[in-house]
Amino acid sequence: MSNPVQASADSDKKYVVHPYTNLSGHEDVGPFTIVGGEGIYVDDDQGNRFIEALSGLWCTSLGFSESRLVDAAIKQFNKLPYSHLFGHRSTQPAIELSERLVKMAPEGISRAYLVNSGSEAVDSAIKMVWYYNNVLDRPKKKKIISRKRAYHGVTVAAGSLTALPYAQDGFDLPAIDTLYCATPHYYRYGENGESETEFTDRIVGELEQQIIDADPDTVGAFFAEPVMGAGGVLIPPKGYFEKVQAVLSKYDILMVADEVICGFGRTGNMWGCDTYNIKPDMITCAKQLSSAYQPIGAVLVSDKMYSAFVSGSDQHGIFGTGNTYGGHPVASAVALETLNIYRDDKMIEHVQSVSKTFMRRLNEFESHPLVGDARGVGLIGALEFVKDKSSKEQYPVTDKVGVQVMNAARKHGLITRALPGDGIAICPPLIITDAEVNEMFNRYKLAVDEVYANMRA
Ligand SMILES: Cc1ncc(COP(=O)(O)O)c(C=O)c1O
Repeated sequence: MSNPVQASADSDKKYVVHPYTNLSGHEDVGPFTIVGGEGIYVDDDQGNRFIEALSGLWCTSLGFSESRLVDAAIKQFNKLPYSHLFGHRSTQPAIELSERLVKMAPEGISRAYLVNSGSEAVDSAIKMVWYYNNVLDRPKKKKIISRKRAYHGVTVAAGSLTALPYAQDGFDLPAIDTLYCATPHYYRYGENGESETEFTDRIVGELEQQIIDADPDTVGAFFAEPVMGAGGVLIPPKGYFEKVQAVLSKYDILMVADEVICGFGRTGNMWGCDTYNIKPDMITCAKQLSSAYQPIGAVLVSDKMYSAFVSGSDQHGIFGTGNTYGGHPVASAVALETLNIYRDDKMIEHVQSVSKTFMRRLNEFESHPLVGDARGVGLIGALEFVKDKSSKEQYPVTDKVGVQVMNAARKHGLITRALPGDGIAICPPLIITDAEVNEMFNRYKLAVDEVYANMRA
């Protein structure tokens, strides 16, 4: 008989379908099973402890042992474990959470629609764009603009906006009418001799041309992550969103900020919209909304759009969309308590303070021979690896330098993630301290040094 840890690994291989995993390699690699956590650390089933430098999937802002969230869940489980919001029904946690979200949202947002995940939030927002334009009698205005390397989730419509081959290939995506515009990543896509401002003007000019070519009367909305996460942690060039929004306004195209990663402090302000001066018609959010202790997301909707939904009822009767678990009372109670902790612990001020150490340690990598670009904001960052710093030439894709660094980091007690474009992500829980930031970067350094030595050899 094998031991319990081995038996569990065997069962994993036998029964579990792993998302975003090379399924043919899983038999050999086996599961990496996490069994516990404390603060910014998690423990595996072999007794190893790691710094969770990706906060799970960019989500566990409060780390892995926040008892206030556990207590909030238990309290709500005991009071009312389930009810829903269909057909005028409501629950106190859903009401309170919606009010809190609207009051903390950027100007113009007046309602919250609760869902269970980021993908559902994005999918719902796409439906809302379509519904809105139908109510306004603009039935052609339905195309959605996304950006190359964007990540907006995996459901059929949201997955159509996720412009990463690994998430679309083999799934017949895109399945909705989507336009993909340029990635706002100056380091990699800026042309020789082009300044950051010239780069921004060029790609925004291209965006406008795409809209004209597609016919502006057929373009409904532009979806954008303030900082593009899974596509590479790409920080927008200065002035980018202001210029994009001027174009969108000209053609009456809605601006949807996908704050699934950036929302709730990640960029050093409550919203990525605050950091980059975005004036959204809708916000999609999830992840840090509950520190991922419960699955919950939301679409925050502007008054302009909500008024149209209300008049839609004259035509359609009910607003015919909703999820069984949308606004789940336990998830809502946990999300509310998460927002209470952000307020009580002054989380935004904390991020701004610790971000100084974070950015200093991140920027030190600029001089590393393997690193072409070290970029970040707030408590999110990335390193992009190159073979030649001056020409920015990369190693062949088959060398998988980012994956090598990710694997080396694991040996040094650090969980991180390789990014498209040969990078590595850095996105620790927001509760991280200055000392822990230093410890985390020490481990990144060991991993990067080790891979650099291998590549040279
Ligand atoms: C910006 C963004 N939008 C949407 C999603 C999808 O969220 P979920 O995985 O909860 O469906 C993600 C997930 O990483 C994301 O980063």
